[in-house]
Order: sequence, then structure tokens, then C-alpha cells
Amino acid sequence: MEKTWWQNKVAYQIYPKSFCDSNGDGIGDLRGIISRLDYLKELGVDIIWLSPIYQSPLVDQGYDISDYYKIDPRFGTMEDMDELLLEAKKRGMYIVMDLVVNHCSDQHEWFQKAMDDPDGEYGQYFYIREGKDGKVPCNWRSYFGGSVWEPVPGHENKYYLHLFAKEQPDLNWENPKLRREIYKMINWWLDKGLAGFRIDAIINIKKDLRFQDFETDREDGLSDITLMLKQAKGVGEFLHEMKEETFAKYGAFTVGEVFNEKEEELPEFIGENGHFSTMFDFNETVFGGSDKGWYDRTKITAEDYKRCCFESQRKVGKIGFLSNIIENHDEPRGVSHYLPAGEVTEDSKKMLGGLNFMLRGLPFIYQGQELGMENCAFSDISEINDISTLDQYKVALAAGLSEKEAFEAVIEMSRDNARTPFPWNDEENAGFTTGTPWLKINPDYVRINAREQMGREDSVFHFYQKLIALRKSEEYGEAVVYGACEPVLEEQKNLMAYFRRGKEKTLLVMGNYQKEGQRVQLPGKIKKVLLNNKEELRQEDGTLSLEGYQFAVLEME
Ligand code: GLC
Ligand code: CA
Repeated sequence: MEKTWWQNKVAYQIYPKSFCDSNGDGIGDLRGIISRLDYLKELGVDIIWLSPIYQSPLVDQGYDISDYYKIDPRFGTMEDMDELLLEAKKRGMYIVMDLVVNHCSDQHEWFQKAMDDPDGEYGQYFYIREGKDGKVPCNWRSYFGGSVWEPVPGHENKYYLHLFAKEQPDLNWENPKLRREIYKMINWWLDKGLAGFRIDAIINIKKDLRFQDFETDREDGLSDITLMLKQAKGVGEFLHEMKEETFAKYGAFTVGEVFNEKEEELPEFIGENGHFSTMFDFNETVFGGSDKGWYDRTKITAEDYKRCCFESQRKVGKIGFLSNIIENHDEPRGVSHYLPAGEVTEDSKKMLGGLNFMLRGLPFIYQGQELGMENCAFSDISEINDISTLDQYKVALAAGLSEKEAFEAVIEMSRDNARTPFPWNDEENAGFTTGTPWLKINPDYVRINAREQMGREDSVFHFYQKLIALRKSEEYGEAVVYGACEPVLEEQKNLMAYFRRGKEKTLLVMGNYQKEGQRVQLPGKIKKVLLNNKEELRQEDGTLSLEGYQFAVLEME
């Protein structure tokens, strides 16, 4: 496998709206981010992915773009963006933006023109179809609930397609003109000095153009959109062309948001000359999901988590690099989701973070993860802003749950858990803003905040700092970045252990994923303890006695 510049890096996702507010309007912004670059540098981050900051009505928090060439005034100006690029560069850091091109906003000029004249040039930028027997063209359900079809105002029997919210019309990738517009825009940003993109919802750009009905699976008479996506063939042609026309020319870094990939697609996606540099591993993320909705999910256990991670590692092997996460802006906080309730402590947080971080692949840290941020104690659905949670709440009610049950069922999964403002300190509004924050601040900021963590040697923050330093170290970096990942002692319950076999060094990564201690027969001899989340590591005659949630990285002989 060819070595490239980004492989030994550590990435960090910023959700700009909730990171740092510089002007007191309650909304995080670019100047806020600039003011915190040194914090990220101190942590050891290299690549910063910014969730969307383009001009947007923020119906889906910026994932609905009305002008790809403008910064939304709530986030700042293009001068601020240029300054951010410059300041990042000074610190040896790279900026990656979100590329949202499956859809745009209904406020985008293209869409406005398409609505004025659906049969004209811009009508071809979208999917506009005639209804069938007085009904919508087909029965697909959008990701955020309801039909994917919305009537074109003033035009009888015409509908436009939206896989997400109705304010996010899907762009017609079959149209070469549209594709050229997208490539031009991507290159415009890369010319500015951007290092690359995180590519949003990208598998959705290929549709099955027969627009057929599928079997219905809920009371709403609609069908899950993934049924259609499975039928849609040929996304690879679009991805290949996009790469050749844009990223490849710049050596840009790309990470794809890809769900449900098939094993045989891995080489095409992230192998040598793949469409993307890397893509997220969502195997753990999607575990426990149900066709019925969030209210019907199964809770993930330690054993499930281990199996999911190892399954991905085995599939990918040395084909390419996955990007590993425990959370992002679409998920609950990893420590609340992957650890049993009542057992979320600094030790277990470090264990979970360590187990994930040390897997083969590119580690992404989501803002606040390095502090061990937890889900927010929301008390009522009225505190929720996220469009997806509000839909899932309705789904749960429609399935017969009481208001209280529905709230409790969806709140655990709510995307707003990860979107609460970043707690910088224990002062008013957690130091995030001097104004009124746009979303509730997690009340535990008094306990969990950056200032406290930075000032305490055994904090989660410092543990992440050590993980990062290990990845970058002269001695062990090669094993951490390129070494094969080899699961070991897999049958031992609630133990997650794997080797990382580098050219010269072999590391053993080990986490006791339960509150009780457990004994482990060591598969080899320890040479050195590189990381440990407890004071001691007890061993006797080749047997380790791990404490509850103990995590260690060991150099083996
Ligand atoms: C991706 C984003 C998510 C957004 C969706 C539609 O999944 O991560 O936040 O709602 O795409 O753009
Ligand atoms: Ca602001």
C-alpha cells in the first residue's frame, strides 16, 4: 500500500455552531474556532473537519446549502475563512470542509429557477417527475420521515425528489452539466488551500431511475429508502469521475460517509486508487438499529462492540484505511452509548477511547470527546432542535408509545446530545458564549469542561493527548499507523484485545470492558507498558489481573 501524507495524522471534527462563539450571538463561529486552534494543537490534532459553514437556512444545520461559494454570516465571512486556513497552516494543521452534494437547499438559486420553470434548464438539475394515478411517483420514505416527493408549487401533478428533508432537494447527478458545476466548486475550494473534504451522504447520489414502489414496512405505507439504494447501480462511475476531476489533481484528502457498503466494494472505495482516501467505519454505529425506528433499537453490549470492530478490521485488512469514531454530530455521545448506564467513569471513558483509537485506521475525535462528554439530560422534547429526533419522536408516538415513553426512547439516540455547546470552563454558559446559547448547554459542564481537564494530569483530555503522542512517536508510530490489527483472546467475555504488528514493534492493546476485574493469560511477554489508565498493572507468571475497565497498551517482546 502506498504511503500518503494523511495516514499518520489525527483528525478532529468541529461542529462550528457549538464550538466557540466569538461575538455573543449564541452561535459558534469561525473567529471562535481560530481562537481555539492552540487548544487543538496542544491536544495534538492535525486535520480539522468542519461541519458545514456555507450559506444555509440551517433547516438541517447547514447540511442544506443555499450557496456553496459563501460563508453563512452567522459563522463569519470569507475573510475569516481565509484567516482560519492561514492560521491552521502556520500551526501545521489542515482544514477539511464538509462536501454536501447529494442535495442542496430549497433556497439555492438552482432550485428556485427549477421551481419557476420545471421543464427548463434548471429543472434538469433536480429529479422532477409526474405523479401516478393522482399520487406521488413512488412510495419511498425520506430519511427524515414522510414521502421523498414534494409537489412543485403551481404545477399540477409534478413532484421533486428529496431523500432528506423537503427543504433538501436532491441534485440530479445524471446531468453532466450539474456534475461540472459541482467539480468547479470543489476545485475552487481546493485552490483556496483546503486540504480536502468529508463527503456527506455520498452513496445517495445514484438513484434507481425506475422509481418503483417497494414493499411497505410501516403504518405510513412507505418503504425504506435503503431498498432503493441497494438496487441503484453505478455510483462508482460518478465517484471515479469526481475524483479525477477534482481531488486527484490536488492530492486532497477525502473521507466518505458511506453506510452499508458491500465487502467487495472496499477496494473500489478505499483501496489503492480508490474513490476516497478513507471512509468511516459505521459498523458499531448502526448496530442495534431497527426498521421500525429509534424507539425499537437494541442496546449494544461490550461483546457486540468488540465483534463489530473486529469484523470491520478483518474486512479491510490492509486494503486501505478506515476512519474510526465513537461519535459524531449525528450520534449520541459514545461514552453514553457504548458503556452501560451507571458505569460511565473516567476509567471506562479512557478504555473506550483507547480501544477505538488504537485500531488500524485514521482516528477521528469529535469535539468534546476528548473531555469525555456525555449525553445531555434533556427534560422535554421542546428542548430538541434536531429535525431527525423530532421525526423519530412522531414515529414512536404513531407506534403507540405514550409521550413519556416516546421521549425517553428517542432521547438516548438524539443527535442533539452531541450538538450541545462545547464546555470551555465552569463559568456562565460554560464559557461558550456571552449571549444566549442556541441549544441547551449540557448541565454537567460544571464537572466536565476543558479548563478543569487541562489542569488535571489524570484527566480524559490528557489521556487522549497520550494516545495521540503514541501514534506520532518515532519509536511506535509505524506500528500504530501501519501495523496489522490482529484480534486475540476473542472468546474471553468482555475483554477486547488485539495486537498491532508493525515492522519492528508489536503492541498489545487491551481493555477489560466490564466493571468487574478479570484475569488474562498473556499471549506473550511484556517488554514495556506504554499506556495504562490505572495506577498499576498487576501481573504474575504470565497472567494479568485487570481491574474493571482497565485499559493498557503494551509493547511485547
Ligand atoms: C449526513 C450528515 C447529517 C445530515 C445528512 C443530510 O448524514 O452527517 O448531519 O443530516 O447527511 O445531509
Ligand atoms: Ca457567533
